[in-house]
Amino acid sequence: MEVAKTIELVRSLVQAARSKGKKVGFVPTMGALHIGHISLIEAAVKNCDFVVVSIFVNPTQFGPGEDFEKYPRPLDADLKICRKAGVDVVFVPTPDQMYPSENLTWVNVEKLTESLCGQFRPTHFRGVTTVCAKLFNIVAPDVAFFGQKDAQQAVVIKRMVADLNMPLEIVVCPTVRESDGLAVSSRNKYLTEEQKKDAAYIYKSLQKCREMIEAGTTDTETIIAEMRKMLSQAPSIQIEYVSIVDAETLQNLDRIIGKVLAAVAVRTGPTRLIDNILVDAGKK
Ligand code: PAF
Repeated sequence: MEVAKTIELVRSLVQAARSKGKKVGFVPTMGALHIGHISLIEAAVKNCDFVVVSIFVNPTQFGPGEDFEKYPRPLDADLKICRKAGVDVVFVPTPDQMYPSENLTWVNVEKLTESLCGQFRPTHFRGVTTVCAKLFNIVAPDVAFFGQKDAQQAVVIKRMVADLNMPLEIVVCPTVRESDGLAVSSRNKYLTEEQKKDAAYIYKSLQKCREMIEAGTTDTETIIAEMRKMLSQAPSIQIEYVSIVDAETLQNLDRIIGKVLAAVAVRTGPTRLIDNILVDAGKK
């Protein structure tokens, strides 16, 4: 496995692989790798001949007062995980490489970034799409792998790739959960035992939503009220949003119809956690 610290090196390694006819898979990450990331890397290794993982804590997707400084950066452990998983190249650029001067060019996906997390993190998705566009230009993969846990991110990236005719496929892999249902996240490291117990109510609320849809409830307000009730059993949880939206447009729904995304964002202590489920309620 090669560790490429420069754009030039990762480009030349990928070019060499492509010239041998290899299909290039890419897993962009911010490091602090966990079993969720490993599942993306495994999908890339299974479906591609040459796998690049990037590790870059992207400053432009953090808002003022968010956890950019404190975000975990266990590089040695991350490299060990990548080596074991069969990664070919880990791209570890410095902020100066990715943003050598004031960034004046931004990629902004409209509408899809306004609901859900976009209401609370107004510059977040612009940072994600800009860094992903840059990484796609640098790595030039055939396929890039993202997690369903960041559902809005996945929808936004897919739209960016379609709208800008980027020559790659986006694959979205299922959310990996701990035994109590909590979605695996690098930010789970911040949780105390008590907060972790409370955080399990996030998935319980999403399961409640699925049960209600499957039992035929179609009024989203009724379902959201039950989900909020479930979350209120966790003393440390403060709800940011509980939403039921159309899975493609991410617009709020009054009634359950077609493919829906139920999404929750909460804070427990200083930590912000998100999770979601997709439910197919049948024909529109
Ligand atoms: O999902 C993440 O870890 C980040 O948003 C990504 C896609 C690596 C961009 O910085």
